[in-house]
Amino acid sequence: MSSFHVISRSGDTQDTAGVVSASFLAAGDDDERLRLSDVSKLARRARRGIVGRARAEDRPTFSTIIREHLAAPLEGIEVVEESWPAYDLVNVQVGLNAWLQELGENGATPRREHQLLGLANFRHHEFGLADLLQRDREDFGPRPGNVSWSNLACGPDGEVQQAVRAGLYLVSEGDARVVVLVLAADPESGMGAARLHVVGNRPGLASAVAAEVRELALEHNVFRRRVISFGRDMFGERGAALQFHRRPALSTDEVILPVETLETIRRQVVGVAEHRERLLAARQHLKRGLLLYGPPGVGKTHSVRYLISQLTGVTIVQLTGDSLRLIGTACSVARTLQPAMVVVEDVDLIAEDRGMHPGHHPLLFQLLNEMDGLAEDADVVFLLTTNRADLLEPALAARPGRVDQAVPLDLPDAEARRRLVDLYRGDLALDDSRLDEVISRTEGVTASFLKELLRRAALIAADESGSGDLAVTADQLDAALDELLDTRNAMTRVLLGGGKDEEAGT
Ligand SMILES: Nc1ncnc2c1ncn2[C@@H]1O[C@H](COP(=O)(O)OP(=O)(O)O)[C@@H](O)[C@H]1O
Ligand SMILES: [Mg+2]
Repeated sequence: MSSFHVISRSGDTQDTAGVVSASFLAAGDDDERLRLSDVSKLARRARRGIVGRARAEDRPTFSTIIREHLAAPLEGIEVVEESWPAYDLVNVQVGLNAWLQELGENGATPRREHQLLGLANFRHHEFGLADLLQRDREDFGPRPGNVSWSNLACGPDGEVQQAVRAGLYLVSEGDARVVVLVLAADPESGMGAARLHVVGNRPGLASAVAAEVRELALEHNVFRRRVISFGRDMFGERGAALQFHRRPALSTDEVILPVETLETIRRQVVGVAEHRERLLAARQHLKRGLLLYGPPGVGKTHSVRYLISQLTGVTIVQLTGDSLRLIGTACSVARTLQPAMVVVEDVDLIAEDRGMHPGHHPLLFQLLNEMDGLAEDADVVFLLTTNRADLLEPALAARPGRVDQAVPLDLPDAEARRRLVDLYRGDLALDDSRLDEVISRTEGVTASFLKELLRRAALIAADESGSGDLAVTADQLDAALDELLDTRNAMTRVLLGGGKDEEAGT
């Protein structure tokens, strides 16, 4: 029935239609009345139609507006349809804006003119540009109307990018005419993907435009060099929210680990990035996987934050337990925006919880397969952490080569505990005349335990002194330690990360 030639293609970043929905910070209200300023000269008939309350069949339809704009027969016209993952709508818009604003050869004036037409009644209808071209009457379904906008997150500090939820761009460049339909994903109506449909008045024009927009969307991608995470959408079962995070700032002095451990981690993650060109020239692979393992509270997450802080300029994609099923999406974003690092923390949780049988880790295997699927020269780091390396070992051993290095993080030894006390005392005046004893009594505690110890000591000092700068006495430090080691604080110690119970000796 359709006389149009439809070319469909889904996004470069993996099309996760039906799985992912965009994270709208503030969805524009769905005012479907016609705002006259949105309507072009070309839609003059629309104005007459609505203002003059003409009969329905006199109202301009999309088909007449598009026909008039293209000034070419629609018979056999090529409709290029592209779909993008819902969260990529922001990039589609940024790419489209860049394309619309491209300058002409003189470098001063835009090479293209455009008008943006909105759609009323676009929700709950499955349609595309081909449908708009075909329909002569619009008693139901989308009609020319107001442009619907949404504000989409494009940075960690509340930055937003306005994006069209449903709109039709009528574009002219010399004699060339193009029509671009943009539709956000609408999972409620079963449309899991964002769509960009294009027609042009010359053969090949629509495909060329779609490719240009795609390239610009990639070039200006708002996720590039950012720290983002995929988490479960709070409002939808199927969706996933994409969030931006501020890049942490941590210096090497703030990470108390044995020198060799820190150096191993740093070299594998940051070093490879630094020597990228030379490694590639020597035909060495860049793709790398690193597993940090050890008991809770020893600094796995802390080290991850440190590495993220060091990798400025690298795209970071974080996944946590619940969002691991989006591993495919995360990997495709990382591949597209490399250099990149994919962080999966507490990978044992996902490995165990989702397994149908003990030792059966479908999500972990999927993760390992995704790692395997990336090209060797992809500058992508996989950084995994776990408290339970023993649970992962069989799975990792069954898929060798994905994780190149497993780095154990241990409980801090006496010297490390001393450095941790030094780090976490901050500007606190502390009588350290009996510190040796404190260090020996804290054998087996974690870094987070020591951090809390100093805070407690400061709190006790604050309680016991009236005002002014805090100064912790040796007695107050002992008291804080007694309190934390007290059997009644066994649970607290667990929360701080496995300080050994003195009585039970476990
Ligand atoms: N090696 C370390 N050096 C400095 N601080 C640390 C270290 N390990 C842990 N900490 C402190 O303890 C807190 C908890 O540690 P975390 O990294 O979350 O432990 P986990 O290994 O369970 O991920 C951190 O936020 C940090 O303040
Ligand atoms: Mg952690």
